[in-house]
Amino acid sequence: MNIQENISLKEYNTFGIEVYAKRFISVGSVYELQQIVAKEKDIFLLSGGSNMLLTKDIEKLVIHLNIEGISIDRENEDTVHVTVNAGENWHDFVLWSISQNYGGIENLSLIPGNVGTCPIQNIGAYGVEVKDVISQVTALEIETGKLVQFSNSDCEFGYRNSIFKNQVKGKYIITSVSFMLTKGKHNLNTSYGAIEKELQERNITNPTIKDVSNAVIAIRQSKLPDPKEIGNSGSFFKNPVIPATLFDELRKEYPTIPNYPISEEEIKVPAGWLIEQAGFKGKRFGDAGVHEKQALVLVNYKNATGKEIYKLAQKIQHTIKDKFHIDLEIEVNIIV
Ligand code: EPU
Repeated sequence: MNIQENISLKEYNTFGIEVYAKRFISVGSVYELQQIVAKEKDIFLLSGGSNMLLTKDIEKLVIHLNIEGISIDRENEDTVHVTVNAGENWHDFVLWSISQNYGGIENLSLIPGNVGTCPIQNIGAYGVEVKDVISQVTALEIETGKLVQFSNSDCEFGYRNSIFKNQVKGKYIITSVSFMLTKGKHNLNTSYGAIEKELQERNITNPTIKDVSNAVIAIRQSKLPDPKEIGNSGSFFKNPVIPATLFDELRKEYPTIPNYPISEEEIKVPAGWLIEQAGFKGKRFGDAGVHEKQALVLVNYKNATGKEIYKLAQKIQHTIKDKFHIDLEIEVNIIV
């Protein structure tokens, strides 16, 4: 077991926050992981580091999940079942699928992070969520060291939510995810306004999965900061769902408020719009800021601490509560 000491985690989290791991180990196989959890109970898991805000040094043993590999389980004329190990980079997997002409995840192009964490927050973009293609999740039960299978329904997926954020939080380590993808007849999802527009601009009327992926990449690159250039964790908050009564009140004052009705009683409103209306878009407080093109994304310009970013997030939450009477829920995991 090669445990290293006092390792900077700056390169291991997309926010680029400089904190240290007292003890750190990179793990390349399930067997190795089983050996470690048998010995060490106080562990902290690090995968792609794309959905966390680190606010202090980590005293627990940091396990960097590095288990790689993709295998095809079975296929027929129309579909293919693929199992991907947790440490594979998500976007590399999307590109690989497209190169094989496997469809279903093209709308999820360029989402930062690794495959192993995609089920936890049920990543989603442009009308598709990863729950639409996951057939099974395999996870190691920390207490027993045994591998356990979760079917799609076992995962209890919801909007940026799953069982791994709730009942079984901290009890399992996801080691691989299985997907069911299409081979020939792809079910393209191009109804999201921004995709339609991008395809039109490219004069594409009969898009392939590669065309859709390219369109999504272009849209994301135009709005969302590249973590390699400016530290960030994607959407920092969830889009809030509010009662229709409150929405009606708000619409009187803000007639252009964007909205997505969920039911007769509930409306989802974009947090990015609320934050922009509150005047935070593009604002900078030291090295912590709100992205200039998408107000839902908080950024680390260079040397912000996790505490500074968290302070900004709380300031935004208070302002949105005062101005709109809405509670903004943080989507990113705050490590305190
Ligand atoms: N808007 C503003 N100002 C802003 C940002 C957005 O007014 O600064 C308005 C837009 O004009 C639009 C609406 O808000 O009317 C929605 O904006 P957008 O299409 O950019 O999507 P979003 O709701 O802000 C969600 C996801 C993103 C995902 C996009 C596209 C959440 C929390 N975020 O953002 O996911 O890429 O839709 O599907 O649901 C992520 O989770 O990290 C992420 C980037």
